[in-house]
Amino acid sequence: MNNFELYTPARLIFGKGQSAKLPELLPADGKILLAYGGGSIFKNGVYDQVKAALGDRNVIEFGGIEPNPRYETLKGAIEVVKTENISFILAIGGGSVIDGVKFICAAVRLSGDPLDLLYRKPLPLDDALPFGTVLTIPATGSEMNSGAVITIEETGEKLSFGSPLLFPQFSICDPTVIVSLPKRQIQNGVVDAYTHVLEQYLTYPHDGYLQDRLAESILTTLIEIGPKVVENPSDYALASNFMWCCTMALNGLIQKGVPSDWATHSIGHELTALYGIDHARTLAIIGPNLYRVMFDSKKEKLAQYGKRIFGLTGSDDDIAREAINKTVDFFHTMGIDTKLSAYTDEYEKTADFIGNRFEKRGWNALGERKNITVEKVREIVEKSY
Ligand code: NZQ
Ligand code: ZN
Repeated sequence: MNNFELYTPARLIFGKGQSAKLPELLPADGKILLAYGGGSIFKNGVYDQVKAALGDRNVIEFGGIEPNPRYETLKGAIEVVKTENISFILAIGGGSVIDGVKFICAAVRLSGDPLDLLYRKPLPLDDALPFGTVLTIPATGSEMNSGAVITIEETGEKLSFGSPLLFPQFSICDPTVIVSLPKRQIQNGVVDAYTHVLEQYLTYPHDGYLQDRLAESILTTLIEIGPKVVENPSDYALASNFMWCCTMALNGLIQKGVPSDWATHSIGHELTALYGIDHARTLAIIGPNLYRVMFDSKKEKLAQYGKRIFGLTGSDDDIAREAINKTVDFFHTMGIDTKLSAYTDEYEKTADFIGNRFEKRGWNALGERKNITVEKVREIVEKSY
């Protein structure tokens, strides 16, 4: 097992009715910014719960953070935080609002251009505004991790960044919030979390036996509950397991001490930037084809996955290949199309566009073995048409 450090300071407050604890979690003094998305919180009662918990605190609101949050929108919030002298932000929403808030919290404490957060590595950050979250959609794990993904409208880019300074101070995770989610978003959540596990699991054999078993238990649970929770979001057993799987898939635990890939995400972000396809759906389009193109690199773990998750038998090569097909079947069971052409008619130049873009960025060695070259990326995308 590789050496590792575990640092996960987000205080997770999980379960029915847990927003009642907000008054003791929020700072009593200073000015709080409530940040939210397009308005779902006004329809499902979450806004009213939060407002009641805020009591007579000094609060300002910033709404309209869209899915795949845009820098151009967040700039407005950065201004508000500065002019209003905000000292704490409460993000109410999913990955998009929480990621947007991470960007705001970093940008307001940065002396240079906020875009440096997305373009400069290592990150030029030594302080960040504190924030907490009220999660309204299980999917990304952003409620417990310190990463974020931001879209720059002007250049059509979707880029990620992260810092240990950007863990939420707390996250309220009440599984009953999923009742108001459109089916499409529940489907997305299951497939996003499932792919998060695969990014950290479908690599090469290593000595992280426990990490493998943890990863496998999340996959098995998602296969078991995924289709059911779409149909019965008010079933608390299903909702709570769904939410906990999503958090566990990307809170850092299963990644400790083992290799990870993340190329499916890097390519997928381009499909969202180009065509506006939901994040999870881009992963369902790209992931299986990445496993096909990188088959020789990943076949040992694919075979382990096939045996342990799907109970397949036969030669390791056959099991590995069939495991990819079973993954596609699962995405279809979740109601998710796995071909780019199902989402856009203008797919033909996508492989070249993404290949050229990665080349310009110098992204020529992705994946756990750094062997996913630009050529391989082109092949993966073309296979996904
Ligand atoms: O904006 P509102 O009106 O709130 O509606 C949202 C939005 O339209 C709606 N929604 C959320 N909770 C709801 C609800 N509708 C009804 N009832 C509720 N309880 O759902 C829509 C999607 O929300 P969004 O926050 O975009 O979804 P998700 O949590 O899937 O986040 C996706 C974003 O997170 C990034 C993605 O790239 C994408 O930008 N990711 C962040 C990661 C991280 N920080 O670790 C990792 C992921 O791999 C991912 O890249
Ligand atoms: Zn994801």
